[in-house]
Amino acid sequence: MTQALDEIKIGGLGASRKRVEDSRFIRGRGNYTDDIVLPGMLHMEILRSPLAHARIKSIDASRAWDIPGVHLVLTGEMMATRNLAWMPTLSYDTQAVLATDKVRFQGQEVACVIADDPYIAKDACEAIVVEYEPLPAIVNPQDAVAPDAPVIRDDKENQPDNIIYNWEVGDAAGTDRAFAQADVISKLQLHYPRSHPSPIECCGSIADFNRATSKLTVYMTTQAPHIIRAAVAMVAELPEHMIRIISPDIGGGFGNKVPVYPGYVCSILASILLERPVKWIEDKTGNLISTGFARDIYLNGEMALRRDGRILGVRMHCDADHGAFFSDAQPSKFKIGLLHSAFAAYDIPAAHLTARGTYSNKAPGGVAYRCSFRVTEAMFFQERMVQAAADDLGMDQAAFRRMNFVRDDDFPHRTAFGFLTDSGQYAKCLDVGLRAIGYEEFRREQTEARARGRLLGLGISTMTEPLGAGNSREYDILGIKMFDSAELKVHMTGKAIVRTGARTQGQGHETTWAQIVAHELGIPADDIVVEEGDTDTAPFGMGTYASRSTPVAGAAVAMVARKIRAKARKLAAHLLEVSEEDVEWELGRFYVRSAPSRGVTIQECAVAAYANMPDGMEPGLENTAYYDPPNLTWPFAVYIVTVEVDPVTGVWDVLKTVAVDDCGVRINPMIVEGQIMGGLTEAYAMSSMQFITFDTEGNCVGSNYMDYLLPTAWETPGFELHSEVVTPCPHHPIGAKGIGECAAVGGPAAFVNAVMDALSGTGVRNIDMPLLPDRVWEALTHRRDVSGAPPVRSDD
Ligand code: CDP
Repeated sequence: MTQALDEIKIGGLGASRKRVEDSRFIRGRGNYTDDIVLPGMLHMEILRSPLAHARIKSIDASRAWDIPGVHLVLTGEMMATRNLAWMPTLSYDTQAVLATDKVRFQGQEVACVIADDPYIAKDACEAIVVEYEPLPAIVNPQDAVAPDAPVIRDDKENQPDNIIYNWEVGDAAGTDRAFAQADVISKLQLHYPRSHPSPIECCGSIADFNRATSKLTVYMTTQAPHIIRAAVAMVAELPEHMIRIISPDIGGGFGNKVPVYPGYVCSILASILLERPVKWIEDKTGNLISTGFARDIYLNGEMALRRDGRILGVRMHCDADHGAFFSDAQPSKFKIGLLHSAFAAYDIPAAHLTARGTYSNKAPGGVAYRCSFRVTEAMFFQERMVQAAADDLGMDQAAFRRMNFVRDDDFPHRTAFGFLTDSGQYAKCLDVGLRAIGYEEFRREQTEARARGRLLGLGISTMTEPLGAGNSREYDILGIKMFDSAELKVHMTGKAIVRTGARTQGQGHETTWAQIVAHELGIPADDIVVEEGDTDTAPFGMGTYASRSTPVAGAAVAMVARKIRAKARKLAAHLLEVSEEDVEWELGRFYVRSAPSRGVTIQECAVAAYANMPDGMEPGLENTAYYDPPNLTWPFAVYIVTVEVDPVTGVWDVLKTVAVDDCGVRINPMIVEGQIMGGLTEAYAMSSMQFITFDTEGNCVGSNYMDYLLPTAWETPGFELHSEVVTPCPHHPIGAKGIGECAAVGGPAAFVNAVMDALSGTGVRNIDMPLLPDRVWEALTHRRDVSGAPPVRSDD
């Protein structure tokens, strides 16, 4: 009898296999959009608006046309003649491709030049003369709803004001009853500021229309190639089978590369008109000021509490600033994404959320920046509110959370907002975190330090996050149901190729999808290649965002491998000359139940699929699986941070950060740890240093990396990670839950709560992110809350 294969040795589940993609990345051999050079390729640059709100009186491009090397100048007027001046957004709004009537945010696309090289194109952009009539700008929801506010979207019929939607979810009457019974009502108001995903690689595309074949090939930085193909078919009115979207290596996406941007559309039209490939590569400033922002919501809420610490109900109101166009990438039926996933880890009888979305003179916002559609804001508000409530009750932070958690034996649990959570060990995770941070000891030290004038603080953030949209019953984008698929081909020699409709942007799918197949079939992971990002070869998928890859595409990989195993079993029975029922499976091998030493390997079955199949069997060993998840996956995490705040300067330093993540079964523990560290780094950056705002004229303040800081290894604190709690997802084929964004979602509240804890007793209830030293200093010195919201316009 042969020895069963060692799953870890073949790179299956649980193996910390080195990322195969890194072999080309660290050698500088990645193939990014800007690396691609096509014969006869031209270059496109975009002229952007310097003003946030202005009527366009005229555009004179004659001098640009005269510059040698210029092939085409596109303006909104020209786009309009082809019905391309406006395009649909992913949230059923419209967005200007090139401005025709007005500009509505600083950095908006006004014209494009296509030339022999990018320098000529840039110079020619500067030669275009645009006459603007400035209009008052709106930079926050408060001004957007003022009675005399200028209507930003006067291009739309039936849009008399700047309100995009009013939306609500939950039980208003039940929540009112809960508040009527409360002993204590705790309140909190905050602004989750705009932030920008700022991937290292900016957005870009190379459109290549071939008149002879009528085929359009577009290389582009997209996280969702199939959705883009559908969008291009709609916008450019081209048949879908004649469009091929190729998403080569991506230098970080974080949600920024989900939407359709005007640059993509213009490069496509330019290529169709010129019949030559046209490359557009955005610069850093263009990326920071004009592509999808995230967050920018005002949250106002209250919690009904019983004196003993039980939460009776929660009320939340959200004012969301969507910018000039409502282009959020999110499931259609949820106007404010999954904001109502807030408080899902807590057993709360009643909750009600109202949300109002408004336009402003800012770039379109609402991308799911490392976030499952507004979950980041939800969890931030939740954990800031929980801290405030515990403080108001005079209760210990950890005890208050533990008392209100959903208990291990309460699953499946219906949250007050209607989600069904299915698994978790919340109290156990918290205990692991408290032990790791040395909770009791720190509290003692904090009290002693306080007596000597030193300000120490400890912040806890716990959260469960809905990852992996669909199911298709509830989740769709523009009517396209949210499921995913995987294709697996096992070659004659037992080597294999997997393709999915997801698109890795650094998460390591090329490594982990092979591990899933290794686990299911016993084929060594090194014998499997993974390919994503080409709509002509990959099966249909909704793409990678909202940490949905493992919950959906990863599940499809497991399911297609099982289909292959089912066929291989028939082949094995044929080779072993027994009936299928007599064949048993162990990793990588079928054997005869009554004679275990008689067996065939999966590789031998692969040969037989091409060379020795039974009569009547279709040859080959390949299949496709479409996977529609029954539910979201619900990972859980506890992040605990300790800090010291300098009372003189407001500077705060992180002393220790502990993370306890339960993402179910870990496919690749090393990659999971990398995801958590990356998320915590972004959480630290958002809470401490990233500042991008707007003045009253709508000028973007923080439009470069001197102002909008990306943390380097130097600033980033160390993180202590814990993996001992594993609650498999009950419905995922391999028990995995998503992990990619958990730490970025749950982390910010831990840092902010720690600083607020250090300030306890001063009467300061909130400082908005980023907690820059001057804000902390102002709060400490003047004993008042500090808001980071963009200024309200004053005509004085
Ligand atoms: O959708 P996205 O890839 O951003 O997020 P994810 O599905 O959470 O996966 C991020 C990376 O972590 C992928 O390489 C996953 O395969 C890996 N992962 C894992 O090894 N184990 C898990 N339980 C979850 C994710």
